[in-house]
Amino acid sequence: MFKTSICDILGIKYPILQGGMAWAATAELAAAVSNAGGLGIIGAGNAPGDYVRTEIRKAKKMTDKPFGVNVMLLSPFVNDVMDVVYEERVPIITTGAGNPGKYLERFKSIGTKIIPVVSAVALARKMEKEGVDAVIAEGTESGGHVGELTTMALVPQVVDAVNIPVIAAGGIADGRGLISALAFGAQGVQMGTIFVCAAECTAHTNFKKAIIKAGDRATIVTGRVTGHPVRILKNKLARKFEKLEEANCGAEEYEKLGVGRLRAAVVDGDIDYGSVMAGQISGLVKEIKPAKDIIEDTIKEANEVLKAVRALSREE
Ligand SMILES: Cc1cc2nc3c(=O)[nH]c(=O)nc-3n(C[C@H](O)[C@H](O)[C@H](O)COP(=O)(O)O)c2cc1C
Repeated sequence: MFKTSICDILGIKYPILQGGMAWAATAELAAAVSNAGGLGIIGAGNAPGDYVRTEIRKAKKMTDKPFGVNVMLLSPFVNDVMDVVYEERVPIITTGAGNPGKYLERFKSIGTKIIPVVSAVALARKMEKEGVDAVIAEGTESGGHVGELTTMALVPQVVDAVNIPVIAAGGIADGRGLISALAFGAQGVQMGTIFVCAAECTAHTNFKKAIIKAGDRATIVTGRVTGHPVRILKNKLARKFEKLEEANCGAEEYEKLGVGRLRAAVVDGDIDYGSVMAGQISGLVKEIKPAKDIIEDTIKEANEVLKAVRALSREE
């Protein structure tokens, strides 16, 4: 079953979180994951509060299990979104791109669990001091915004550095990944790329097919010049980004090219000039299947892997 402390803290059956992905993680996906025993998370991205409220209310109708909202701290609507999440009493918030410190007191007072994504030990330590409930240590393998450290190097170092539960993310899409994360001392995993290919994910079929077609070297990190690097599938947009980088353009021009590109890929299916955020694990994602199967197959495989590893350590 792999019952860990994170299952108790979040009130979930399996220690599996579905990444709160801008545009891709709508109420449909979050509810399906929560109904299957994981933690579904709605991605607020750069969307305004009204959009997020609609998704939260839809999810409430589709599941009676806990679910969360991922708040992008760089969003122009961040305060608006935080107000909505507070008013709707969503029990769990994950945050991307920064330090949610200034929101903690308000949410603590109503028992909301706050779980920031971190890509380095220093931020994990700082977050623990500020009183967050857990951290998601996300390696550079992951789709979307990334740091520099790999999951394999980052997770054990964060586990050693803090006393709160750590959730591993980046490059995990099956039972082997789950067992590795638990072996590193993580209390659970967050998976993103594979959940884009869940049947319930409302992302455009072109986006899903692009992930299924992708091999191990299909992604590239763009946007280092802006200070907010992003991992996407290599396509015509990625090439344009590369050209801007080669030309040593400033962050402003670079950012201008990125505006609206994720929505174009996820909602409109523009996989040539859209930002097809996906992780290095895309090569392992081979089919579209229900969220329940993604979770149950992961748990089943994790049990098999555990048995196989145990067999290796038997005495002669
Ligand atoms: C399409 C896409 C959009 C994402 N958007 C966000 C986001 O808005 N906020 C966030 O914290 N993480 C975001 N992520 C990261 C995921 O939540 C998750 O941590 C990551 O995908 C895990 O690594 P994996 O892709 O290797 O499974 C996104 C990932 C993808 C693939």
